[in-house]
Amino acid sequence: MKLHLSVDEVLSTTRAVRKRLDLDKAVPRAIIEECMELALQAPNGSNRNLWRWIIVDDPALIAELADHYRQSVKELWEGQAAGDESVTAGVPGEDKVLASAFALVENLHKVPAMLIPLMPGRPDGLPAFAQAGMWSSILQAVWSFMLALRERGLGSVWTTVSVRHEKQIAELLGIPMDQFTQVGLFPIAYTIGTDFKKAWRKPLSEVLSYNKFEL
Ligand SMILES: Cc1cc2nc3c(=O)[nH]c(=O)nc-3n(C[C@H](O)[C@H](O)[C@H](O)COP(=O)(O)O)c2cc1C
Repeated sequence: MKLHLSVDEVLSTTRAVRKRLDLDKAVPRAIIEECMELALQAPNGSNRNLWRWIIVDDPALIAELADHYRQSVKELWEGQAAGDESVTAGVPGEDKVLASAFALVENLHKVPAMLIPLMPGRPDGLPAFAQAGMWSSILQAVWSFMLALRERGLGSVWTTVSVRHEKQIAELLGIPMDQFTQVGLFPIAYTIGTDFKKAWRKPLSEVLSYNKFEL
């Protein structure tokens, strides 16, 4: 089933879905593959297609990944308590984002599927120009995947906190960590309802300048 949203609607209403993931509805692999086929149309450096993608739909593995996610969040919070800057401080609706983030921690083990996108190579210690080419050869495909989910009544949320446990997750899924970097962990589920709204962002006037950098 497709929602037949306009391109602009898909672009402006593809939200971070955490509390409205339908944990009881199975997601057929065929739908995920349809979204992945669209994702693979995204540009990537020299069209080398070196990316790899893992869909996890085995409940036992999902439970283990959810455990790593939970541990990673715990480590993040412990770091913040020790004085690192808050990740949401100053954001309008900060409390809502945090409550939603906790809801995901609580329910992640129940999602029907997850995506782990793998970036070829390791960015560790590389100069910005080299890293830019690497990250820019996969991130837009991941976003395309999320947009394709939205048009089909499914949702996800971009998460990176699990990469704190990259090594453990690599071992769990057999990922050669010297060759591939995990981009994050993307839950996949139908959404509860399909009405999502435009979100708050800083106004364009505060973030756009012409011809030269302006603060
Ligand atoms: C790089 C990046 C990392 C993120 N990491 C997490 C995460 O680990 N856990 C989580 O619950 N949300 C995470 N998010 C989701 C953001 O909180 C979310 O995209 C943001 O609040 C905007 O949501 P909205 O588009 O629905 O307004 C991440 C998003 C991005 C782009």
